[in-house]
Amino acid sequence: MPPGKNTQRLFFALWPDDKTRKAISVSAKQAAQYHQGKSIHINNLHLTLAFLGNVNQAQRECFEQCAESISVQPFSLCLDHLGVFPCPSVLWLGVKEQPGELIYLAISIEKCACDCGVKLDNKGFNPHVTLMRKVKQLNEFDVESIHWNINQFCLVESVSGSEGVEYKVVKSW
Ligand code: 2AM
Repeated sequence: MPPGKNTQRLFFALWPDDKTRKAISVSAKQAAQYHQGKSIHINNLHLTLAFLGNVNQAQRECFEQCAESISVQPFSLCLDHLGVFPCPSVLWLGVKEQPGELIYLAISIEKCACDCGVKLDNKGFNPHVTLMRKVKQLNEFDVESIHWNINQFCLVESVSGSEGVEYKVVKSW
């Protein structure tokens, strides 16, 4: 749906707790030392489960209702390597092992999108935390593995302002 007065730009995400956010920000700072590009603001670091794009109020309510019905046991993730999307040039932290609960959660949200009449980008689920965008030259560096305990997922709004984009958690389950 194109952006409109009564739409919000939304996505489902795993939102790091403070300890995990700090640990990710250490890797993000390292990344910024080794690369030229645009660093993601520490408060915006997250792992996207599904990008919904611009949705209207009825669709948002549908997603909220559907999310309520998703039941997944708490699980943990190990952010253990750096990866790159070459075009556009994005540097990210990813997981070598995708826990079954994570896959189930992503698929459940995809099903909600289908039920709520929203078509998702069909790029396939590649769980990652973006650290930098528009990276000029890619350089390897070692990252420490980050253990992330997950017991909730969130609906997040992407708000564009004069200072850039800000991500605001709308609701958590
Ligand atoms: P990214 O980190 O790989 O860029 C909010 O924009 C979040 O949704 C970002 O984390 C972004 O992933 C993700 N996303 C996925 N598909 C997107 C799209 N088509 N447009 C914008 N963001 C998208």
